[in-house]
Formats: sequence, C-alpha cells, structure tokens
Amino acid sequence: MNIVCANPLKQFHRYQDEIETAVIKVLRSKCYILGTEVRSFENEFANYVDCRYGIGVANGTDAIEIALRSLNIGKGDEVITVSHTAVATIAAIEATGATPVLVDIEEDTFTLNPTQIEYVISEKTKAVVAVHLYGQAANITTIKEICDKRNIQLIEDCAQAHGGLFNGKKLGSFGKLGCFSCYPTKNLSAIGDGGIITTNDSELASRCKEIREYGWRKKFISEVKGKNSRLDEIQAAILRVKLKYLDEDNSERQKIALIYDNLLKETSLRLPFTQKGNVHVYHQYVIRTNAQKDLLDFLRENSVFAGIHYPMPIHLQPAYKNKVKIAKDLSVTEQVAKQIISLPIYPGLTIEEIELVSQLIKQFHIS
Ligand SMILES: Cc1ncc(COP(=O)(O)O)c(C=O)c1O
Repeated sequence: MNIVCANPLKQFHRYQDEIETAVIKVLRSKCYILGTEVRSFENEFANYVDCRYGIGVANGTDAIEIALRSLNIGKGDEVITVSHTAVATIAAIEATGATPVLVDIEEDTFTLNPTQIEYVISEKTKAVVAVHLYGQAANITTIKEICDKRNIQLIEDCAQAHGGLFNGKKLGSFGKLGCFSCYPTKNLSAIGDGGIITTNDSELASRCKEIREYGWRKKFISEVKGKNSRLDEIQAAILRVKLKYLDEDNSERQKIALIYDNLLKETSLRLPFTQKGNVHVYHQYVIRTNAQKDLLDFLRENSVFAGIHYPMPIHLQPAYKNKVKIAKDLSVTEQVAKQIISLPIYPGLTIEEIELVSQLIKQFHIS
C-alpha cells in the first residue's frame, strides 16, 4: 500500500458524518454565497486566532493579495519576502502590481532571516510578508520590531501554520493582517479552495471585505477596485466542522513528529528544529540529507511518496529568474532546496506507517 505525503480523504472519513450533515444543511438552505456559514466561520476563526476580524476569501493567494491591497500597496512599491516559499506568496505580491524583493532564510528554521531585511530596504519598501513555513513560526517578534522601527507594514503568510504559536501568541495575530490558505492538504482544510484573512483593524477588515467582492460596500456600487474572491457557504460549513478539531489534529501531527524524531535521531539526517518559544504544528516534517534524489527514489521504489517543498527557489524558476529583485546572497535558500525532503505526515498516519518510513530511511543509510 502506498504511503503518501498528505491524505485529505482520510481526514474527510474521520469527520464524514458531521461534514455531510453540514453540507446538506447548506444545500437545502437558500443561501450559497456569503451567508451565515461564512459569517460564523469568520467569527469562529478570528476568535481562534485571537483577532477581532476574519474575512473569508477564495484561497490563500487571494488572502495575501487582498491584505496587501487593503494597505494600498501596489505598483511602484516593494514587498520583502523569501525565495524559499510556495510560489503563491510571490504571485500574490505581483498581483497587486508591487515588486517582490526576495531575501534569504535562516538555516535552522527555514524562515525569513530578519538580519537580511535591512540590506534590501529602500524608500519603496512598503511591507514584509513573513512566511511561517512547514508549521514553524518565522522569527516574528524580531521581524515585527524591524518593521515597526522602519515604518513598514507586516503581513503574515500563515498558509502552513494554522494553530501555530510564537511565545504563546497565535500566528496570524502579530502583523497588520494574517493570511491563511485552506487548500485541502493544509492543517485546516476545505474540500476545495478556501482562505481567510485575520486582523484587529476594523478599517482594514472593511477594506478586505470590499476588495473581495468587486469593491462593493453597498451592492452594485464599487467604492474601490475589487475582485471576486468569495468563500462559499459549503466550504465555510466544512471549515467550521474541521476548526473544532484543529487543535486535536495538530497535536496528532506533533506526536507523529516526535516519533520520527526518536526513530531517526541516530541517522546522519538533519531533523526539524523547533525554535525556542515556538509551537510547531508540523504542516510538513522536513529532513535534510545530502542524498536527496537517491533517498526520494528509494522511498518511492518502496511505495513511500515523500515530497520536496520546494525543489526550486522562486528566484531560479523560469518565470522569475532575473525578473525579480533579490538580495545579494541567497545561499542558504539555494543550499536547502537541494537537501530537503518532506516525510509523510497527516492526522491518521498510523504508527506502522511511520515505523515503515523510518525503517526504510535507516536501511537506505546503512546500505
Ligand atoms: C506558504 C504558502 N503561501 C500561500 C499559499 C497559497 O494558498 P492557496 O493555494 O490557497 O492559494 C500556499 C499554499 O500552497 C502556501 O503554502
């Protein structure tokens, strides 16, 4: 039997009765877009993240674009972020018309290296998008201090970190706005596309709501230029069911990570590092090896489908090479892309499966 990296179907089966009841309720209601399910999900999720407002949107990429646009960031502006992220982070910045400026990451956490920010700040810099990658917080308090000092807006890309904490505070509540994806493999996932923005600022919340629906404050009257990025009622209803179990699901991910830690500690692999004060929610369990391709191939030959997040830094990808602004040195980014492997991790992965993956890795290292 195949062991895959993520398994949304297994999660659906776990909550199937509740999800089906919630979906049928929406199907039988008269309202399919921006109704009570979306409003309830927005309130419940905002509450979960300890923010005053939640704004449901169509996906995580739009969440970042709309968050930036709510701050009037666009053409002529620069936004600092990392090259070691999902391409969505950069696509969202570009969708506003702003220029992404890509900096290097910290070696141990794989997240934005705060010391790099100062090197690329210019008078055009308007925001930093800090990506909490793999379920681990970026060094967010230091990043926030720099942003506050330099009068730059801070946005958090929390697409991989629902429920994660830094010094006891929920990710998504540090910056002006927090942006979440609810893609089917995420820690909090829809059964389709979905996303949500969090903020404590009522004006920004209103602007995000306007931008997600054609710039409307009142129906048919566009106050600002907007787009269509609505979260639908069915996805919101599913997200409400899964939100109730998010902490439980995250602690299952943490237990799986701990088992891998113990089973793999005697290998030469570099295992995930958790920063002090950080509650890692293990969207991915990422190891480092100098035999990336061979180990991946060996696992695949044995029906284990591990992944690489991400195999090519954004600044080296054909669409972006020589077309985005980059820091002088992106050597950590370039190095880790050649070494990382994401092992299977998701709620419902069995102990037998974790042991099998670990045993194969050890066998590979011995042979
Ligand atoms: C770090 C990061 N940012 C943004 C996104 C974009 O989310 P979505 O796919 O919902 O647009 C993702 C999802 O892949 C992500 O992993």
